[in-house]
Amino acid sequence: MKVLIHSDAAQAVSCVTGLMLDRMQRQPASVLGLATGATMEAVYEQLIAAQVAGQISFSRATSFNLDEYVGLSPTHPGSYWRYMQHHLFDHIDMPVERAHLPRGDAADPAAEAARYEAAIVAAGDIGFQLLGLGSNGHIGFNEPTSSLASLTRIKTLTRSTREANSRYYDRLEDVPRLAITMGIGTIMRAQEVVLLAYGAAKAKAVAALIEGPLSAACPASILQMHRNVTVVIDEAAAAMLTLRAYYDEVHPKGGAALL
Ligand code: GLP
Repeated sequence: MKVLIHSDAAQAVSCVTGLMLDRMQRQPASVLGLATGATMEAVYEQLIAAQVAGQISFSRATSFNLDEYVGLSPTHPGSYWRYMQHHLFDHIDMPVERAHLPRGDAADPAAEAARYEAAIVAAGDIGFQLLGLGSNGHIGFNEPTSSLASLTRIKTLTRSTREANSRYYDRLEDVPRLAITMGIGTIMRAQEVVLLAYGAAKAKAVAALIEGPLSAACPASILQMHRNVTVVIDEAAAAMLTLRAYYDEVHPKGGAALL
């Protein structure tokens, strides 16, 4: 696991964008695993700017988002489809038929989850998986106690996750209780995983992810078993790490390794 600690959130965001640009430039036909949440908004802004500047094109890329709320259609203002259109898809040259999210309004959500998993497998699995981090250690919507081998399925959201995501809704009661999410096993098949987290509210989950025991109590801790994972954080999110001096020695200021 590479741990890159940057002085502030802006630097961490630029680092993640740089890793994605590098991947896209090497492999324009990449299969991207995309995430939602406030953390990713600045990354998507920078990706759009990079495309406008001619540094990359998404015209040959394919994407699969991590998750979607059960019961919401793509046009619902709180849906992740709407989030992705607003923050990325409406502004890039990726053909819309190659942008995938689970259909939250499917008549049979369990069958939709199985279809989504099969579509990811058929695409050859995710090449570059972008992840955020829930303050309770979730990735995608894999809440604590999720099977560490799980595939795409329906998950019941914790109250804390619903509260954290309630900013897109008038009332907490309006936040859906269920979501379709890529499983932890699905995420672990990705060739490369890059997780971005910043701010003090993520410090406990970041410490559990990087240094805690491998445990379903912190689903992100499974990334300790991934062969190609980079965790990009800022000072505030790094505050509870005990091996901080070591990470700084290996990657000073979150930069290239000193070998
Ligand atoms: C949601 C998403 C996750 C995301 C998390 C963190 O729960 N399903 O993929 O990582 O929010 O969100 P934020 O970036 O807003 O802290």
